[in-house]
Amino acid sequence: MKMAIVFMSKHGTTEKVVKIISEHLIHYNYEIFNLRNNKSPDISKFDFVIIGGSIHAGKVQHSVKHFCISNAETLLTKKVGLFLCCMETGDKATQQFNNAFPAVLRQHAFYTGLMGGECLTDKMNFFERNLVKMVIGGPEKYPKLNGKAISTFLKELDEIIPNLN
Ligand SMILES: Cc1cc2nc3c(=O)[nH]c(=O)nc-3n(C[C@H](O)[C@H](O)[C@H](O)COP(=O)(O)O)c2cc1C
Repeated sequence: MKMAIVFMSKHGTTEKVVKIISEHLIHYNYEIFNLRNNKSPDISKFDFVIIGGSIHAGKVQHSVKHFCISNAETLLTKKVGLFLCCMETGDKATQQFNNAFPAVLRQHAFYTGLMGGECLTDKMNFFERNLVKMVIGGPEKYPKLNGKAISTFLKELDEIIPNLN
């Protein structure tokens, strides 16, 4: 059974979640595709595809959206997991998630997760840093990764993977 993790990350948070997932999958056969370097990875040989992106100014990265739409038909023949990193929680986060991934894919996915977010100010440009300070306030108010959501995702993987072999 082959797995692919396809993601896009602006400042590194989604990439951090991908690293946690991949470390959990260490005993399995997987490949990671960063859409920054490869906009159209060939997923045909994979049985299981995990897709992750993040929200900036209310939207997921165009490359994530494009990947999902252009591979929708293929993805519907595979196991799919979807996750998003963002600072919003509750209904607003759910709304962002629903706008990020096509409905057919969301309905098909074995797991959809909101993993929380981070504000890695050292990776931001001048405008982003000021915007974040203005909108969120000081570092004590910065969002955090949602450890519980990540653990739930890993648990779901543990349950589903043996059944795929
Ligand atoms: C300029 C900027 C705009 C953002 N806009 C949103 C937003 O509209 N909604 C949201 O939930 N999170 C927003 N965020 C938070 C990011 O989604 C969060 O920092 C996430 O961890 C980024 O992940 P990445 O580093 O993998 O791209 C924003 C962050 C920045 C820096």
